[in-house]
Amino acid sequence: MDKSSLNVLVTGAGGGMCEGINARLAAAGHTVVCVDLDTERSERAADAITRSGGQATAFAADITDEAVVEKLHDDVTRDVGPIHALVNAAGVLDRKYMDDSTAESFRGALDVNLVGPFNMIRAFSPAMKEAGWGRIVNIASIAAITGYIYPSYAASKAGLANLTRSLLEDFRGTGITVNAVCPGVVDTPMVIQKVRDQVARRVPTQAIIEPDEVGALVCFLLSHDARSINGAEMVIDGGATQLFRLFD
Ligand SMILES: NC(=O)c1ccc[n+]([C@@H]2O[C@H](COP(=O)([O-])OP(=O)(O)OC[C@H]3O[C@@H](n4cnc5c(N)ncnc54)[C@H](O)[C@@H]3O)[C@@H](O)[C@H]2O)c1
Repeated sequence: MDKSSLNVLVTGAGGGMCEGINARLAAAGHTVVCVDLDTERSERAADAITRSGGQATAFAADITDEAVVEKLHDDVTRDVGPIHALVNAAGVLDRKYMDDSTAESFRGALDVNLVGPFNMIRAFSPAMKEAGWGRIVNIASIAAITGYIYPSYAASKAGLANLTRSLLEDFRGTGITVNAVCPGVVDTPMVIQKVRDQVARRVPTQAIIEPDEVGALVCFLLSHDARSINGAEMVIDGGATQLFRLFD
């Protein structure tokens, strides 16, 4: 397998952060398989890549649905070939405090942020095992480490980080690495103005993170140089999670 030119499947490819991830992956020479809820979002992401000279294809799928993900696996494998690397970036932020939440709304966040990546890994990792090489990157959040005011988001992302660690034994000796990326506040439409102001006041770098920076980290995790990074939580947050240590 030519590892300089991988088939990389990105879920949530039509989202804000994925603009940076997709662009970096394509610039590195990888073929980006853009997956999002509907055709319009995934095609828009794939078009942006091909317009800038990269290789991309688009598929629509709801990652929460196991049967849909199995069909996605079959369609992608038939049309593109085996997937060498999987980037689980699809996610939802349900801005509900505990009192506004219901079991249903809580489950909704778990479904996308945790069950979705589980479905994707279940469907796409067997081919990686067969190939003796693979990369899985789960986009979690610093909320997985610190907790957050919206419990469904924090709990689902903490679950995703723990799922990441818990797969190490399954992937022992298979050539697959599995890591979580935990971004702080990234410049995407998901981020409201109040949070942007807080970043400027509180985060040590005083800077919001660019999607391109997350893309660079994801790209590195797919590379040969990152072969010993496994089961890690790669925090990219301008120092935000270390704030407690900085208090005097
Ligand atoms: N933006 C931030 O500051 C930030 C910080 C930390 C972590 N994250 C995480 O990074 C990832 C990307 O965030 P973003 O800001 O680009 O979000 P976004 O809302 O712009 O993009 C998320 C994408 O996921 C897709 N999606 C949602 N449910 C889906 C489903 N069931 N099946 C398939 N696709 C689905 C959406 O259609 C959307 O295109 C998310 O997992 C998010 O939780 C974001």
